[in-house]
Amino acid sequence: MLAALAGETRQRPPFWLMRQAGRYLPEYRELRAKAGSFLDLCYNPAFATEVTLQPLRRYGMDAAILFSDILVVPHALGQPLDYVEGEGPKLDPVRNAEGLSRLSAAELHERLAPVYETVRRLTRELPEDTTLIGFAGAPWTVACYMVEGGGTKEFAHVKRWAYGDPQGFQALIDLLVDATVDYLSAQIEAGAEAVQVFDSWAGVLPADPFRRWVIEPTRRIVERLRARHPGVPVIGFPRGAGLFYVEYVEKTGVTAVGLDTTLPTDWAARELQTRLPVQGNLDPIMLAAGGDALRTAATGILADLAGGPFVFNLGHGVIQTTPPDHVAELARLIKQWPERG
Ligand code: CP3
Repeated sequence: MLAALAGETRQRPPFWLMRQAGRYLPEYRELRAKAGSFLDLCYNPAFATEVTLQPLRRYGMDAAILFSDILVVPHALGQPLDYVEGEGPKLDPVRNAEGLSRLSAAELHERLAPVYETVRRLTRELPEDTTLIGFAGAPWTVACYMVEGGGTKEFAHVKRWAYGDPQGFQALIDLLVDATVDYLSAQIEAGAEAVQVFDSWAGVLPADPFRRWVIEPTRRIVERLRARHPGVPVIGFPRGAGLFYVEYVEKTGVTAVGLDTTLPTDWAARELQTRLPVQGNLDPIMLAAGGDALRTAATGILADLAGGPFVFNLGHGVIQTTPPDHVAELARLIKQWPERG
């Protein structure tokens, strides 16, 4: 995995899956029930370590991703957060300077200490050749949840603030840039060998706001992480960025880029992989569907991208209804690549 992120072409590409730990696994659901709430699970180092390792035991991925969530950062900044069964995250919305004044980074590391402890435990438990990935949400995506107070289809509140009062909104983004750098830095110091910045909602912005709220904050994060931790790869995942992928890659300076499900892999091979290692991008629903469709899609991605620096992954996270057997089938297919004929 680290060789691929350093730009090497591996004959058999490394793989891991976004949301590889989670509710599609019965052993996850069992531990989740014991932990109580989802946040209790994230903040319990023994349980979070175990949940991180569960998919690796079944499928032998080349990388483990720390078990946590992108919303622990706003939580640590003081924003009340709850995960409601079947509805996703709920936060008390922050929509103006008054809301911002209630947040503070003073206790960030104290509150996130259990996450760092999970990383330390994982560095001890993982085999030498399994890469430990830390992560955070990108400022734009985290701001979407903070301002909307949860998931949204329209992004009306966050966009109205960003468009109507860009200076005020900039203060939130700046707070998140600082917190994200400190949070990822602490994960690296605890043992994370690579980090991924999830910008799940990068794709909802027009051109100029995309530059200001997606590219620029990510560029600052990459620059500061690189100064503190030269050599630690930063994977950017600007989901839905479409035509902006090239500009994102050029201006942010990320080490590698995660391709979302919709990007044509032959295009990505020509326009992105010639510049940096790429990761992706099997449709998670293809994994849930299984069978010939899964084999054909996975083989197509490998054919297009395994000839350069590449990390096999999904184009978004594993969904809850994915049969575990389909993940096993995918793991087999990747590990047998290139097929001997
Ligand atoms: O990839 C992994 O296995 C590591 C763990 C991980 C989780 N969330 C666990 C989780 C990672 C990397 C994330 C990232 C995350 N969280 C993102 C970015 C990636 C993406 O999916 O776009 C986002 C937007 C979130 C915010 C979030 N967390 C939402 C919207 C939800 C609710 C939706 C859902 O699937 O329930 C969560 C909850 C969450 N995060 C769960 C897990 C395993 C499910 C919680 C449960 O067990 O009840």
